[in-house]
Amino acid sequence: MEFETIKNTPIYKAFSEVGKKIFLPRSIFYWAERAKKEAEISGTIGAAFGFEKDFIEAGGYRWVPCYLQNIKHFFNTDITNVVPYASIPGLTDSRKRWKDWVIKKSQLDDNKKKSLKDLEKYLTLTLFTPGITHGIFTCCSMFLNQSEYIILPNKRWGNYDNIVEKNIGAKIKSFNYFSRDSIDLKSLEKAMQDVLKIEEKIILILNIPNNPTGYIPTRKEAIDLINLLKNMAEQNKKPLVILCDDAYEGYTFDKDAIKTSLFYDLFQLDENIIPIKLDGITKELLMYGGRIGALTIGIHKNWIKTDLELEQLKNEIENKFSGFIRSTVSNSNILYQTILNSLLSSQEIEKTLQYRKKVEKMLEKRYILLNQELNTIKSDGISIDPNRGGFFLFVNLKSIKATDFADLLLKKYKIGVIPIEKTHEGINGFRIAYSSIDIRKIPEFVSRIKKAMSEYK
Ligand SMILES: Cc1ncc(COP(=O)(O)O)c(C=O)c1O
Repeated sequence: MEFETIKNTPIYKAFSEVGKKIFLPRSIFYWAERAKKEAEISGTIGAAFGFEKDFIEAGGYRWVPCYLQNIKHFFNTDITNVVPYASIPGLTDSRKRWKDWVIKKSQLDDNKKKSLKDLEKYLTLTLFTPGITHGIFTCCSMFLNQSEYIILPNKRWGNYDNIVEKNIGAKIKSFNYFSRDSIDLKSLEKAMQDVLKIEEKIILILNIPNNPTGYIPTRKEAIDLINLLKNMAEQNKKPLVILCDDAYEGYTFDKDAIKTSLFYDLFQLDENIIPIKLDGITKELLMYGGRIGALTIGIHKNWIKTDLELEQLKNEIENKFSGFIRSTVSNSNILYQTILNSLLSSQEIEKTLQYRKKVEKMLEKRYILLNQELNTIKSDGISIDPNRGGFFLFVNLKSIKATDFADLLLKKYKIGVIPIEKTHEGINGFRIAYSSIDIRKIPEFVSRIKKAMSEYK
């Protein structure tokens, strides 16, 4: 592959040295695929296969990947759904199913429904990674060179720091997430302008609903944010890669909050905007240990002239990202790809959504009660960040050191929270994961926080 199509798009301009260099060589997969179609006897696959009867008691006559008899106790499914390798970007049917799911989710907000035809045409076929974490690592590696900046809010999932700074050796340009009760767009704008003074691209992660705050923009805030990003792209004509970390998508508990991912607003917004959607089965389908993350890229129609070029571009993008996946984790868990394929199939999806609704409702009740209870704490010493969904909320502490407070809460009051103390980024507070607190215990939980706070008076 010569990558002639991708070279003429902002996505290539934005690539890191790794992103520019990496690709998936033809290698064994090319020959194995061809052998599947063309060979009568194939010796191309690096996995042990045999007739089931030869290695399994009462096995059949099928030619299958060899497996251990005792693993069958765990799976009431055809063994070929469990033990073979999945292909590098994932099982084609499951990838199509996830793309359909991404398209279906775009229709949730009546105010901003996207054209189904455009989404089908201009979204890449989803690639799977082992969890969203690896999707983030993949994208950061594909776009960030050592010492280049990625823009992130000061209140963010801590693992971004490990991925970006420790693992890749790039830098974080942090912006202040909130000004009063709203997203601090001035701070975000300044961060983008600062990066543009020294770099030819902007890489930004938007994680909504946010970990650790549970922030989701209102419709009005979302419009302002989108306009800012659009203006930035139009004025500077430099690639603006926006990674939408949608790990908690679907858990929106406030009627004013946006219901769909910002990815859909960014799709086709400006030819320099490269929206990448990172979602996955982890929280969305409540399969934390399943380790399937999904990576879907929005292509802008101005990047190509013909349908043929569009197909070529999709192939080149897939090859580049597959090259990275192959060289880091090879491929993702096949069993969970099979399971998601079934859960999202047309026969099952309504049931799947119905079952998930029960969990959404359960979390929503906890969200309402926890906010109500916390609001009864009348103290200037704490403030709660705007939160409208997800699994968490964040309590800021004014003068009590967050780690000391968490320690006190644990030792004396026997309740657990996650303190976050980053004085250089103006953060001192703690995260409460109501996703894991029994609703009946919430009043007691907050009452103990109150008692602990009274010790500091
Ligand atoms: C914001 C955010 N992104 C990504 C992830 C990781 O998801 P996964 O377990 O699929 O790697 C998490 C998990 O806690 C998260 O909070």
